[in-house]
Amino acid sequence: MNLMTVKELLGAPAVRKDITVKGWVRTRRDSKSFSFAEINDGSTRENLQIVFEPSAGDFTAVLPRMQTGAAVSVHGDLLEAPAGAKQKVELRAKRAEIYGDCDPEKYPIQKKKTSDEFLRTVAHLRPRTNKYAAMLRIRSELAFAVHKYFRDNGFFYVHTPILTASDCEGAGQMFGVTSLDLGDLAALPRNDKGGIDFSRDLFGKRTFLTVSGQLEGETLALALGRIYTFGPTFRAENSNTYRHCAEFWMIEPEMAFCELDEDMALAEDFVKNITGHLLRDCASDLDLFARFVDKDLFATLENVTANKYERLAYTDAVALLEPENARFETKVSWGVDLASEHERFLTENYFKKPVILYNKPKNSAAFYMKLNDDGRTVRGMDLLVPRIGELIGGSERENRLDVLESKMADMKIDPAAYWWYLDLRRFGSVPHSGFGLGFERMMMLATGISNIRDVTAYPRVPGYAEF
Ligand code: 4AD
Ligand code: MG
Repeated sequence: MNLMTVKELLGAPAVRKDITVKGWVRTRRDSKSFSFAEINDGSTRENLQIVFEPSAGDFTAVLPRMQTGAAVSVHGDLLEAPAGAKQKVELRAKRAEIYGDCDPEKYPIQKKKTSDEFLRTVAHLRPRTNKYAAMLRIRSELAFAVHKYFRDNGFFYVHTPILTASDCEGAGQMFGVTSLDLGDLAALPRNDKGGIDFSRDLFGKRTFLTVSGQLEGETLALALGRIYTFGPTFRAENSNTYRHCAEFWMIEPEMAFCELDEDMALAEDFVKNITGHLLRDCASDLDLFARFVDKDLFATLENVTANKYERLAYTDAVALLEPENARFETKVSWGVDLASEHERFLTENYFKKPVILYNKPKNSAAFYMKLNDDGRTVRGMDLLVPRIGELIGGSERENRLDVLESKMADMKIDPAAYWWYLDLRRFGSVPHSGFGLGFERMMMLATGISNIRDVTAYPRVPGYAEF
């Protein structure tokens, strides 16, 4: 193919004649006898330098239009660059063509306006900056690493519903979905109490966007053995923090015949494997983040990839945290749900490496977590990592029908709505476990980016759903 990406051209071993490259102009400068332009096409962080020599072609009409942001096509010969140049090769232009002009006065992506806050307001153009293009390339590679890891380990990729009638986490943070026309309140069907009659909705009942694919994932693991999901999840929690989004992607493996210990081992092995993959295969893009975003990025990634993770029972964590209460906003005592400040203290200050916190108090736990024999803790676990806190939440699932039913009754969860979930405990029940990893949080770990709004192309957060 004569049309080659910049990435392919920069890796091209030999001098090549008659090559075409297409991309966007990053910069252009003119000297007395030549002009130079740097072209980027998104394929790699590096630009290709183009040299326009008047002896090689007539560029008088196109050169003034080679402005930052313009889309161009350049045809010429790929030659070795002079010693000391940034790249080993450069393109000596013979012909050039402008696809789309770009007025530098009006183009929002300018060298001097690069704050993250500003770039969020032009999220449709920010992928044309080095930083956001690198972020998106890493995101793509990370997704690939996830699929590769599970495939290599005998897991099947399953697709669980996005529209659902069940609330997996029971936290009341679901977005409602309806086919009824909410714009016409007077015409909405009503029940005898005056509420909306959802039996007249498309699904014949109230439905929501999923907060997790776990419950359906469990049904598939109890047939296929090892499965994982990788899909979008939605939470209508009004948390305006650096690590919460209303729409995020989650990876949820689920394993039959698996208890909490093995679940924790899988979480550790999985995270190490994908950070290791990044260190091996994304060096150039990671280097950008290490230089301009987080100087400790490589140290953090090596820490997460190489160290044995600390396993810490909740009760032991409380014993460690209580003497430090002076430094915390929320004081710790047994039963308190640990907040991000406590999580970060454990992983960043105390152990200085990832920590798996397990056996959490049953009061703050989701209904499906398996009750321990002590009657007050459940087999839940959270993987905590530096800078982020909770990266993974998971558990061994309650597989005893009677215990699950009584837990649901305590929490006022209607068993009739979960008949199919309870069936798993009626027919061939087995110990099984799984976890959920928040993909955006993984991206924060991978890039050093400190705000979740900047690790996805179009963040969905309270008060903002532009684009
Ligand atoms: O701890 P969570 O709520 O666990 C579950 O949803 C389980 N059903 C998972 C399972 O066992 N299969 O969420 C899992 C992870 C968190 O550890 C966090 O990384 C991420 O999902 N997460 C969020 N990421 C971004 N924005 C939010 N609002 C998030 N809420 C959870
Ligand atoms: Mg959690």
